[in-house]
Amino acid sequence: MTDDSFVTLKASSKKKSGVLVDKTLNTKENYLKLIERFNSRLQLVKSADIYKEIVDSLKQFSDKNNIHWNSIRCLALGSPCSENQALFQLCLLHLIANDCKIKVISIYDPVFNDLDRKFLQQELKFAVEKEYVRSDNDCCCYYMPHSPISLLETIISTEKPEWMLTNDFTLYSSKYTEVEYYDKYPYCARIANLHNVKTQLPTTGEKPDNDDFEVVVSKRSQRKKTKQFIKPIVKYDYDSCYFKSSTKIVYLSGNDSNQPWDYSFSDTSFTALYK
Ligand SMILES: C[S@@+](CC[C@H](N)C(=O)[O-])C[C@H]1O[C@@H](n2cnc3c(N)ncnc32)[C@H](O)[C@@H]1O
Repeated sequence: MTDDSFVTLKASSKKKSGVLVDKTLNTKENYLKLIERFNSRLQLVKSADIYKEIVDSLKQFSDKNNIHWNSIRCLALGSPCSENQALFQLCLLHLIANDCKIKVISIYDPVFNDLDRKFLQQELKFAVEKEYVRSDNDCCCYYMPHSPISLLETIISTEKPEWMLTNDFTLYSSKYTEVEYYDKYPYCARIANLHNVKTQLPTTGEKPDNDDFEVVVSKRSQRKKTKQFIKPIVKYDYDSCYFKSSTKIVYLSGNDSNQPWDYSFSDTSFTALYK
């Protein structure tokens, strides 16, 4: 539990010291305070450029492609009653759902506590559910702010989403080599590849400490005893994959941390996947 999980309550019986009260406990007082915090952050997000950018682009995209999302599946939000970023991201979700007239919101994070669940269900009318079973005609947009990549991989491979508001898939290319990325997270790597990722492989210099590089030694180089490396070619298999092309929209204003919402909306992008 972080320090942010506590509020100082000035109790009249403890005149000077104040008492630390766990704001994540499911009490009536905490519930009302959570509503207050949610509403104040909602006003902040309403005035944010990132919110306008996202909603405008989603509306444009859905108009242009004749799509109407009827549901949002939200995963990896964090605990809105104890984490500031999760609360800001929840405000954004609420605004997107209202603006895009999306009625069904299904949400899950294993960190939710009783207070989170009560707020999400009673106040926002969200369905808090570990499993989300989509019907054939469910047009669902996934919202997974700052999701672990392992969760993204699992969801993409099993639930086959077509639209996702989540991390920018190309960002992992600076963490993994192209081979590693495709090896560990083949679905995410395929998306990153479609978004024209340029991997950060060294063009000269020492051999990196892994097996992804082939050492090519030309006769001339042999004489000079220098080594060059050829970037391995990754053969992305799209034949066995449910998508073959993709578009993405990036929201760079989310990276401006000099705002009350800090990094809540950083590295966000919208990804659409097509057969
Ligand atoms: C990096 S945190 C992001 C939290 C928050 N969205 C943020 O930006 O600060 C990742 C979140 O994913 C959640 N998570 C992990 N496995 C999950 C699962 N199977 N389903 C839903 N959420 C999951 C974790 O509990 C955690 O809250």
